[in-house]
Amino acid sequence: MIDLTTDYLGLKLKSPLVVSSSPLSESLENIQRLEEAGAAAVVLPSIFEEQLALESIALDSDISRGTESFAESLSYLPAYDDYRQGQDAYLSLLYRAKSRSSIPILASLNGATAGGWVRFAKEIEQAGADALELNTYSLATGFHKTSAMIEEGIVDLVRQVKQNTRIHVAVKLSPQYTSVPHLAQQLDDAGADALVLFNRFYQPDFDIENLNVIPRLTLSRPEELLLRLHWVAILYGHLRAELAVTGGVHSAEDVLKSIMAGAQVAMTVSALLANGVAHLTTIQAGLARWMEEHEYQSIRQMRGSLSRRSVPDASPFERGNYIKTLSSYTLRRTVPQHK
Ligand SMILES: Cc1cc2nc3c(=O)[nH]c(=O)nc-3n(C[C@H](O)[C@H](O)[C@H](O)COP(=O)(O)O)c2cc1C
Repeated sequence: MIDLTTDYLGLKLKSPLVVSSSPLSESLENIQRLEEAGAAAVVLPSIFEEQLALESIALDSDISRGTESFAESLSYLPAYDDYRQGQDAYLSLLYRAKSRSSIPILASLNGATAGGWVRFAKEIEQAGADALELNTYSLATGFHKTSAMIEEGIVDLVRQVKQNTRIHVAVKLSPQYTSVPHLAQQLDDAGADALVLFNRFYQPDFDIENLNVIPRLTLSRPEELLLRLHWVAILYGHLRAELAVTGGVHSAEDVLKSIMAGAQVAMTVSALLANGVAHLTTIQAGLARWMEEHEYQSIRQMRGSLSRRSVPDASPFERGNYIKTLSSYTLRRTVPQHK
């Protein structure tokens, strides 16, 4: 019997297949369907720092506290009722999801600065979340803000959440940091229990007819997994914090690669939005089949086997790979001649 179990954030999961944060987990019916299809855990959609601050401003009627940039960010939030719910509705979703499911339910807080809203993490803990994912998506558009300032903000945020709660905390990161290992180490030292690699960078598109810049969300492609594999493989074995992959996990093979890079879990969403929730069952069956065919007994046994510290030649993870990749392309191909 193949052992698909894995440990993540102090939880014993029946497999490494986790459904990451998205509107899929917005309803109890969907969470139930995800559980039936084989999800080992589900992350709820995020509640946003701006959303929480907006509620507290409404409560205090103290608009003057908002900074200019904060006021600007509020204008980006879709009307409350149209989008995600407020604090009470979020806690209620969490509570009901917990009482109806037998799989772990992770809450998700989305913000990039430490502040009063961090207190909400305590309420999430009290509402029974099995763990908390902190999504630190932010965009550095200020010309005077240094990389160090941004990273310190995220580390401080994690430290504050850890100081105020006992819940296990995973930190979902964006890939655009100059030194991913350095930031990962800082977050590890601040108490992060896991790092989730990586957020996707949603770039707006240009509408050249109407001279508009418009938000655009496309589902991920499997090729996006490579960036995640690369960094997980480099970080594996160097941190106390566990590692999770999100982004480009579409098949059983992608889950296997994530584990071999060193991840505890592989998260997926786009593949389910594109193919339906039943795709989870297909992925899980493919995972067990592949392991059986290749005589692996457990997920644990294969974890990290393709990490940078496990492979005999680590050069593909380093600068040498860049040179090799470019030169191998020009050697293999001849450029078509123009007539
Ligand atoms: C429609 C949609 C909504 C999402 N909402 C959230 C969210 O609220 N919070 C969050 O942390 N990630 C959110 N994500 C990102 C996913 O959790 C995931 O990290 C990302 O899509 C990469 O995984 P994938 O390649 O399996 O889609 C969302 C993704 C999609 C497609």
